[in-house]
Amino acid sequence: MISIKGLSKIFTSKDRKTTAVDDLTLDIKKGEIFGVIGYSGAGKSTFVRLLNRLEEPSSGEVYINDRDMTTLEANDLRLARQNIGMIFQHFNLLWSRTVAENIAFPLEIAKVPKEDQTKRVKELIDLVGLTGKESSYPSQLSGGQKQRVGIARALANEPSVLLCDEATSALDPETTKSILELLVDINKKLGLTIILITHEMHVIRKICDRVAVMESGRIVEIGNVLDVFSKPKQLVTKKFVSQIMGDTEEIEDIDYLIKNYQNGLITRLHFIGETTNNALISKIVKTFNVDINILQGKIAQTQSGAYGMLIVQIEGEEQEMKRSVDYILNETSVEVEVIRDAN
Ligand SMILES: Nc1ncnc2c1ncn2[C@@H]1O[C@H](COP(=O)(O)OP(=O)(O)O)[C@@H](O)[C@H]1O
Ligand SMILES: [Mg+2]
Repeated sequence: MISIKGLSKIFTSKDRKTTAVDDLTLDIKKGEIFGVIGYSGAGKSTFVRLLNRLEEPSSGEVYINDRDMTTLEANDLRLARQNIGMIFQHFNLLWSRTVAENIAFPLEIAKVPKEDQTKRVKELIDLVGLTGKESSYPSQLSGGQKQRVGIARALANEPSVLLCDEATSALDPETTKSILELLVDINKKLGLTIILITHEMHVIRKICDRVAVMESGRIVEIGNVLDVFSKPKQLVTKKFVSQIMGDTEEIEDIDYLIKNYQNGLITRLHFIGETTNNALISKIVKTFNVDINILQGKIAQTQSGAYGMLIVQIEGEEQEMKRSVDYILNETSVEVEVIRDAN
């Protein structure tokens, strides 16, 4: 079992402090596939990197099999890390080494005798389905095959925990599917605990037992995948659910809005990063002689900006309404869809 208590990471640079992971407390059960979903900047990578201390925590404790990782000295930490494999979005393979040599690398570091290495590498190659590719170089492999090498290398020292940081994010849907199936396979065969980070809901839906939704360094929702996604409470969770469910309620509401807000212009604004909705709305109201009424919205604020949509009513002189829309179109990254033109 992995037990995390009050775990935080604050990055400090010259002019600012970023709380990347903010006071996380949770338990991850032995043998489960635990998903962590969140938008870019939510703190997911920092969180997993704290588990094997690739990142030093600012505070808190991480117990893996009753051992506090945060207090281990260099030598014990090195040994403890052999119990935690990790795979990455961009595979992080050594390009001058063959498949077999990449997989043998952690065994060399662990000073495993040469003949045991050879035997172990062969087992791993079979396990991940790369038989015949032993002597290939990473540059000769497809993305899916590269990730298979990554998985074999991560499993070399027989860890009990596997950390996956966006491990399928660089892969096409078919390859993603086969890598996820491989992860489920090794989870069952080896009883491995898997912590899987993603920004893709279908990855969670497909293989995770439980999920934590992260936003601004915190876990805002946690539970069984089915419970969390059938009754999402937080806006960010609803947004992730709509990745696979679609925005069903929204379409019905449009007619209602048009009927009930008869004046001015009705537009749907799509925010994809960068611009924050509040700043934009107040800027328009200050710059142009219009009123803005927010009718409906689904916005998830992330570290990297707003994500989602707002339906707004803009009222004022025709010329001013037009100038407002032109401003949004030309001066911001927000996309504008006019639902009902001014009348
Ligand atoms: N080494 C670092 N130095 C300063 N800030 C960092 C560092 N690593 C991450 N951050 C910041 O911490 C926050 C969380 O980042 P990260 O853990 O990479 O999120 P995610 O993996 O969910 O995209 C972001 O605001 C990011 O800019
Ligand atoms: Mg990340």
